[in-house]
Parts: sequence; structure tokens; C-alpha cells
Amino acid sequence: MSKYKTSAMPQAARPSGAVGQGIVHESAAKHVSGEAVYIDDMMAPAGTLHAYVGLSTIAHGVVSSMSLAAVRKAPGVVDVITRDDVPGVIDIGPVFPGDPLLVGLDNTVEFHGQVLFAVAATSYAAARRAVQLAKIEYTHLPACLSIEEGLEAESFVRPPHYQRRGDVKQGLASAPRRLQGELQIGGQEQMYLEGQASLCVPDEDGGMLVYSSTQNPTEGQKLVAEVLGVDLHKVTVDTRRMGGAFGGKETHANQWACLAAILARRTGRAVKLRLARGDDMRATGKRHHFLSRFDVGFNDLGQIQALDLMLAGGCGMSPDLSDAIVDRAMFHSDNAYYLPDVAIAGHRVKTNTVSNTAFRGFGGPQGMVAIEDIIDAIARSTAMDPLDVRKANLYSIEEQRNVTHYGQTIEQNVLPMLIDRLEETSDYRARRESIRAFNAENTVLKKGLALTPVKFGISFTVQHLNQAGALLHVFTDGSIQLNHGGTEMGQGLYTKVAQVVAEELQVDIAHIRCTATRTDKVPNTSPTAASSGSDINGMAALDAAKKIRARLTQFACEHFKVSEDAVVFSPNQISVGDQMFSFADFVNLAYHQRISLSATGFYRTPKIHYDRETASGRPFYYFANGASVSEVTIDTLSGEYRVERVDICHDVGNSLNPAIDIGQIEGGFIQGMGWLTSEELAWDNEGRLTTVGPATYKIPAIGDTPPIFHVELLPDSPNAEATIFRSKAVGEPPLMLAISVWSAIRDAVASIADYRLHPALDTPATPERVLMACEALRREAH
Ligand code: MTE
Ligand code: HPA
Ligand code: MOS
Repeated sequence: MSKYKTSAMPQAARPSGAVGQGIVHESAAKHVSGEAVYIDDMMAPAGTLHAYVGLSTIAHGVVSSMSLAAVRKAPGVVDVITRDDVPGVIDIGPVFPGDPLLVGLDNTVEFHGQVLFAVAATSYAAARRAVQLAKIEYTHLPACLSIEEGLEAESFVRPPHYQRRGDVKQGLASAPRRLQGELQIGGQEQMYLEGQASLCVPDEDGGMLVYSSTQNPTEGQKLVAEVLGVDLHKVTVDTRRMGGAFGGKETHANQWACLAAILARRTGRAVKLRLARGDDMRATGKRHHFLSRFDVGFNDLGQIQALDLMLAGGCGMSPDLSDAIVDRAMFHSDNAYYLPDVAIAGHRVKTNTVSNTAFRGFGGPQGMVAIEDIIDAIARSTAMDPLDVRKANLYSIEEQRNVTHYGQTIEQNVLPMLIDRLEETSDYRARRESIRAFNAENTVLKKGLALTPVKFGISFTVQHLNQAGALLHVFTDGSIQLNHGGTEMGQGLYTKVAQVVAEELQVDIAHIRCTATRTDKVPNTSPTAASSGSDINGMAALDAAKKIRARLTQFACEHFKVSEDAVVFSPNQISVGDQMFSFADFVNLAYHQRISLSATGFYRTPKIHYDRETASGRPFYYFANGASVSEVTIDTLSGEYRVERVDICHDVGNSLNPAIDIGQIEGGFIQGMGWLTSEELAWDNEGRLTTVGPATYKIPAIGDTPPIFHVELLPDSPNAEATIFRSKAVGEPPLMLAISVWSAIRDAVASIADYRLHPALDTPATPERVLMACEALRREAH
């Protein structure tokens, strides 16, 4: 489907699966044949019980009675737990408190779908039937369900944060042109194919082995230990793979592991807890919806002079990761543009809805949509092509305009060149002309075109998370086991890190097996998130491989009395002077000479810091970049639309694996397109989520793939920083390439009023919203 080019690695003899080769994902065949094992497919121990949860049916109120007698008596039920049965800590808030494992009698329910009790039964069906028999009564409290209400009441889960540069009041006052506006940005359900699931197996001495579909095994370990009231060394979390996560299992996998662990401890049996889709959607967090309000001053060339921006994230009922998520929205509210005088306020609004959490981009996409809306508004008001407004505002190579509003210098600024390249390869200008001609001739169907850039900061904005560990074992037959702190969620991390080891030790990747991520192999790990998985775990694995390579080299020197340059690693072979050994024979020899063939590796990202007091620093090691051009056709009488063609140029540095990177770009783009177009979350007046399955929550299907979909990896663009083989992170950035679809839809709508007016179009731009935008523009134009 995609055409791509990549910067070729040197073509000397290389092991198969070395860095830069577009080899297949280690589980690809198992994914498609159904052999890949997820939590629910595991061989569970004999006597395993099935757990399920009872959820609140109001958004806000006090639990005044909880009658569980019928639940306890239901067929197959072995145990029932409430808040009083938690042996240890009750609050499982990952960073700040606020997330009770269970809400008990006389406690306050804070959202519709909050867990009140859990049962363990002999079958999944028995457990699910039993929870329906509970009789719960509540004293109702008024529920706050919207960002506006929460903002008005200044009801926040965390204090606001501000980023400023220059004098925004003065800048706005002196700007020749000025615009104000407001935008609603919708949330998004992660819709991982494998729902939240955990299997807990009790171990001796009060220990617990937890199999969990989680991006964060270490946090799962810590919280399971805390709720059980035991030391961390009693708990091991094992994660072989997730059937997708997308941020939804960064913190929201913990609760299910903790509940299953308590039931396993009490019953002495293994306990599995798997949420059904509807309950998964009700009870776990989503992407934050946002409200943005802006006041922008600019000149006749469309250049922004001053921006006063308010970003308010709808956090739901608890802090969870919202501090970092709204921070990331603020960090990305410049997207790729230099903002001279600027003031950005970030609010974390509390509402009586499920606590929102990480989702690919982690707030960044929302900040970027806010600024891209402003750019389009400027284009309409200056009658410029939006691409020219974008170019006029880009961070430039010159020193005056290359520092972000939080003080980080844009050091490797590839976007001006990348955008020029994409403008050429996508034939932007000629297509702009023919679209104008088409729109002049057609009254019902209208076409739109947009090119939007992405600049995404790579690193956890929480500094201490930017570390990783690895563990490497070489066995006497030359085969290798690799383990690291990163988790596999489909993104290809295990494949990429194995490629790093194949490269360093010069062995075919077939000899390397990456084993399940486990807290007893590599401890104290960070979540696999912030797109940093291969950056940091790749480096840790490289460190371990280098240690083993150095030991083998040193051994060769001593054993064969040669100098270091006489020892050469070539694919699957090690030569010492004129003697040649297979890798397997050589490590076997080393073993017999008592050389350690196992090593740990460690990495921490250099250079990064951010001072929240002064709202300045270098939070990101580097930026990942890309741009996309989307063309759409809309039906102005029905609001329906089609994405006709998409061209992407994306910078992954020296790709570790171009096939996997292209997959991430395509998948990320489609997921972003779903967020901005068809995926709409809806709650009723009681705060009950009404979109609880794929029938009402419309994710893109394969048929929504643009019929023309060109993806190019930017050639010859090694990372200027010394990242793993000069690659760049790819997991999240491509999601934001989809902003061009939304911008193109608005471009098509704007053609109704001859591009003079800026159509208001909140996201997701569903056909209903597109139709309303068309009608509003028709009215306004008359
Ligand atoms: N790709 C697949 N197939 N499944 C996923 O769950 N998650 C995304 C991205 N790509 C995800 C994915 C998110 S939110 C992140 S942060 C990164 O992968 C995490 O992996 P990485 O750091 O190894 O890129
Ligand atoms: N990205 C993703 N996850 C995170 C981050 C981040 O910046 N900070 C803490 N968790
Ligand atoms: Mo990704 S949202 O950082 O898990």
C-alpha cells in the first residue's frame, strides 16, 4: 500500500534482522493465526476462579446501602469483597491520591461505572450474573458533567500551570489584526482489541504472580503489593504482550490486577479478571476532551505576534496522569510555530466522569489541534492559503525564531525542508488550483485540501521516568535471551530491541528471543509510553550487549594472546587472528574458560530538565517531525465526507525497522483520523456513558483507509542526538498527522463562503457537525 524510501545502511555482510532491516514483527504470524497468547488465552492453573466487578449506577452521590446477600448466595460464587476487605492501601492513585480501589458504604461515588464490590466465582458467566443481584442505594449529589461547569466552579483535580513569554497584553494590543475563538476537542476511547485483563496466581510466603495486560508492570507490582500490604519483593508482574494499549493500560490496568490479587489471596486460588467491552468502556479512562479559548494577534502576512491561550482538559474525577497530560498539551500548543508574546494557561478540570488517562499523544494532540485551528482562522482572515500561513509561522533556522515558549531551542529543525519536500511530492499547489476550480463548478460536493506539520517532543516530561534496564543471557549453544523493561503492545518494540542486539553481537535475529517483560528480571521500570520504548530500552539492551561483546573480546585477547583488533565480529562468526569460530562455538569456549555470559544494561536519557516554577527548560531530548497532506470531498447537503488521498512524509531518523515504522505511521494516522472524525463519546444527562461498544462508538474500519495513501520516511535524516543508532521515536507522533484531515474538511466547508469565513468545527467532525458547519456558513455568507 505504501511507497517508502529509507536511508540505506551500509551494505557489507550483515546478520539477518540487524538494525535498519524491515523485518517482520516477531509475533506477526501468531497475531494473524490466533496463536499469540493473551491473558485470557493462558493455560490457567486448575481451580482458577473468575472475578467480576459491580459498578455504580450514578455519577455522584453517597452509597447509603449495599446489600450483597443475593450476590453471595448466587450459584458458583466463592467470594465477595468490598472496601472493608482490602488488606492494605485502598487508594491506588498512580501519582496523586484520588482513585479508591473500591467505593464502600457511606463513601462517595464520583462517576457512573465506579467499582463498588468484586466477586470471584467458578465461571465467568456465574461471576457476571452474580454482580447483577446487588441492591445498592444512594443519596444523590449534583454531578458536574462538563468542562464549562467545572471551569466556572474552579473545580480542579490539580492546580493550574502557566507558561509565558514576553508581554502578551502589549503584543495583542499592538498587533494589526486580532481574532478570538473557542473550540471543543473531543475525547477518545482506546478500543484496544484485548480488554483489560489480569490473572493472579498466589505464591508461597504470601507472594503473588500477576499476569497483566499492562504498559506498566512495575507500577502494577507496587500497587498489588500495597493493596495486599506486602513488600514489593513478594509480587512479580509478567507481561508477554498486550492486544493493544494506546495509553489505556499505562495506569488503568492496575485496578483489575489489584482486585484479582486480593481475591486470589483470600481464596488461595488463581483468579482471573477480564472486563467485558461495555464495562471496560464505562470503568476505564479515555483521552481527555479539551476546551480551548484563544485571543491571537497577527500581521498582514499571517504571522502570529501574540497569543493568549487557555487550555482546559476534562480530567474526570481524579488526577491520574492529568498533570503531565495537560502539561504536554501546553508544551505542544505551539505545534511547529514560533509564538513571540504568549501566555498559556492549562487547567485540569474535575468532572463526575471516569478519570481520563493516557492516549497516544498524551495531551499533545489536543494542544496541536488548538493551534492549528488558530492558523486556519488566520488564513481565512488574511485570505491566504493556510499552507502559506503555516510556513510564515514555522520555527526558523535563524536564532531569533527557534526557541519554544518554554525555552527549548529547536536544534534539528527539519520541518521547513520536510514541508517543502511534501509540498512537491504531493503536488500541493497544482491540486489546490484544481480543487478551487472544482469547487467553483460544484454547489453540492466540495473538496478540501490541507497540509499540516507535526513536531512532537520525545521524552517523558516527568524526568525520572526516562530510564530503562535490560538483561541479556547468552547460552552455550549461542542462542540468546533478551529481556528489558519495555512492554510489547503491538508496536514492535521486542522486534526492534532484538535487532539492536543482533547488530551489536552480529548474530542473526533468529538466535535471539525476547522473553516476557517481568519485574523479577528487570526491576524498577518505567511505563512503556511517551514513544520512548525503543529509545531507552534499545539503549539499555545495547549497553548489556556491549558488555558481553567486550568480555568476549577480552577473553579472546587473553586466551589467544592477540591484540583487540585481531578479534573481529562478523555475522554469526568471531575470528581471532586467522582462526574462525562460529558464534556458538566461541561462546561455548568462553563458558568453559569461566567467562560470564550474562549482563545487565542500563540507560538514562541525558540533557533533559524542566523547572515547573519558571515553566522553562529542556523537557525533550529531541523532537520527532512529520507532515501530511489530506484531500477530502464533502457533501454539503448531508455532511458526509470521504478522505480521498493522503500523502505523508515522516522523520524517523535512521529507522531501526522501516516496515514497522511505516506500520506505526499508517496505524497512528488512521487512529488520529478516527479521533477527529467519527469517534464520538456521548454521556446522557445522568452522566452515563451511552457509547459503550463498537455499534455506537465508530472507530475507523479497513474500508476507511484512504484509497490513495502514500507514506514516505524522510531520507538521510539521522537523529542529531546520539539516540539508538540515530533513530527517532515513532509511536505517537503519526497520530497527529491526521489533523490535516480535519483541516481539509474545514477547507472544504470554507469554500462555501469563498474562503472568506472560518467555519467553526468542533472535533470529532462527524457528518452531523460538518452539515451544521455548512449551514452556519451559508447563513453567515448571506
Ligand atoms: N502501536 C500498537 N500496535 N499498539 C499500541 O497499543 N501504543 C502507542 C504506540 N503505538 C500502541 C502502538 C503508544 S500510546 C505509545 S506511547 C507507543 O506505541 C509505545 O511504544 P514505543 O515507545 O515502543 O513506541
Ligand atoms: N508521556 C506518556 N506517559 C507519561 C508521560 C509522558 O510524557 N509522563 C508520565 N507518563
Ligand atoms: Mo502512550 S499515550 O505514551 O502510552
